[in-house]
Amino acid sequence: MKIDKLVVASHNAGKINEIKSLLAPFKIEVQSAADLHLSDVEETGKTFEENAKLKANTISLKCGLPCLADDSGLCVDALGGRPGVYSARYAPNRDFNEGMKMLLKEISDSGSKNRKAHFSCFLALAYPNKKTKIFEGRVNGTIAEKPHGKGGFGYDPIFIPEGYDKTFAELGDDIKNKISHRSRALEKLIKELE
Ligand code: IMP
Repeated sequence: MKIDKLVVASHNAGKINEIKSLLAPFKIEVQSAADLHLSDVEETGKTFEENAKLKANTISLKCGLPCLADDSGLCVDALGGRPGVYSARYAPNRDFNEGMKMLLKEISDSGSKNRKAHFSCFLALAYPNKKTKIFEGRVNGTIAEKPHGKGGFGYDPIFIPEGYDKTFAELGDDIKNKISHRSRALEKLIKELE
């Protein structure tokens, strides 16, 4: 479905710029919720999908425009899928060095030898008078024994994507943006806009 204006329900400049550059070829005017002076929507859902839908629907209703929202996080097998939707809040005061330390300790304390994990991203595209569409992206990998690398953000220094022997933080943006959960979900969304 063709659209010419889209509001991104985020105040995160990095995410907004990533989405703007991926949508540039489609001549879609992208604005953020911050540009429209709309406050952040609280993530009260229990799943990525619920949170993405909640944010996209709320902002779309408020401004009467199509709206895109995402929710993402790291799911660790040995911890039953945690931190998952709580990935951002798991790290105390969003200090991800501390968050990674806590996560590595939790895995070690669990006694499990399973290092498998995945990043998940759910994108919700809400239209004022249509059903909200969901696009999912996922990248599988393993959790390193300790953090490596300075690039990326969040849990990148401890996540080794499948098919590589370095963490996202060591691989750099070019590789990460080709294979990440977020770019995979965006690729599906782009197909919808073509
Ligand atoms: P949100 O989608 O803005 O709620 O953020 C989810 C949280 O998941 C982030 O704060 C990060 O901790 C984590 N996360 C999501 N995607 C990535 C990623 O690509 N690399 C590292 N951490 C991520």
